[in-house]
Amino acid sequence: MAKLLVVGDIYLENDFLVQTIPVENEFSVASEVHTFTGSKTINSARVMSRLNNSVDFFAKAGTDDLYLKILSDLKRYNINIDLISQSEDTKTGQISVITDERERSAVNIFFGANSKVTTQDIQDLEGSLSNYQMIYGATHLPVDCLYKLVEICRKKNVQLFLDFPNPQKTVELSKLKDVEYISPNREEAEALFNEQIRSVEDAFRVLTLFRKFCNGTIILTLDIDGCAVLEKGAKDPIYFQTTPVQAVDSVGAGDIFKAVFISEILNTKDLQKSIVHAQQIATRSVAIKGLDFTLNNLDLSF
Ligand SMILES: Nc1ncnc2c1ncn2[C@@H]1O[C@H](COP(=O)(O)OP(=O)(O)O)[C@@H](O)[C@H]1O
Ligand SMILES: [Mg+2]
Repeated sequence: MAKLLVVGDIYLENDFLVQTIPVENEFSVASEVHTFTGSKTINSARVMSRLNNSVDFFAKAGTDDLYLKILSDLKRYNINIDLISQSEDTKTGQISVITDERERSAVNIFFGANSKVTTQDIQDLEGSLSNYQMIYGATHLPVDCLYKLVEICRKKNVQLFLDFPNPQKTVELSKLKDVEYISPNREEAEALFNEQIRSVEDAFRVLTLFRKFCNGTIILTLDIDGCAVLEKGAKDPIYFQTTPVQAVDSVGAGDIFKAVFISEILNTKDLQKSIVHAQQIATRSVAIKGLDFTLNNLDLSF
């Protein structure tokens, strides 16, 4: 069991299932609605916690009623809420996802309190960083906060794992040089380097490009094609294939992969074994429908 700090974000998510996604001046009737507290970082934190790690979660909520709902959900997920604060005169973040029967979706996002994180908030974490074996964050933090997080982790010599959600063209890759682990998926890496990834050779080429900016271990996840990894200090990348599965819902697969990997690498110090296990669980998750249900019920044994 490891002590982990997730520097994350919080949304109240409303998922609507409709026959057809409405266009302008139309409405649609939802046959199902599901409301829960979520975000990519919360998805990972839930899996870390289910793997018996102690997970502290740093994030900001608003001063509205949603705050209480969010705290009770996070407690139910077994995530420690001591580092969650309320931002004055701000609402809690919210996401609406409208999905049709063909799995196409339209998303509306309100960042709310998530955009109120300041460099001072991150700086205030420095004193307690040494209590943790790994810090998990995402590059969609406000960029000055992201750089501050990298800086304090380096100063305190604490390992940082950065997820790379949505290619942020504004991120200066060279500022991520000392990050221990960094993980984009196929689409994110393609956008970042303006390259197509259609083969293992393409993936290896992108990893080599990424190496110019980051000395740490780079994990490029490739959905149905598994992942390719360039380990810190290694000359050559390694490719890991997935086992074929009847995929019905791949939302959150990357978040699950990263959580299992972090838990395993801290536990075993064995990179290859940790990747294989992360991939095994992530692949299993795509065969189950509904992210909240999956995060509660997914079999995490290997
Ligand atoms: N269709 C699929 N079949 C088998 N495994 C999958 C599939 N989609 C995702 N995975 C597994 O989940 C991991 C992460 O998925 P990926 O789509 O790359 O990340 P993200 O969820 O960030 O887009 C992959 O490396 C793979 O192990
Ligand atoms: Mg994907």
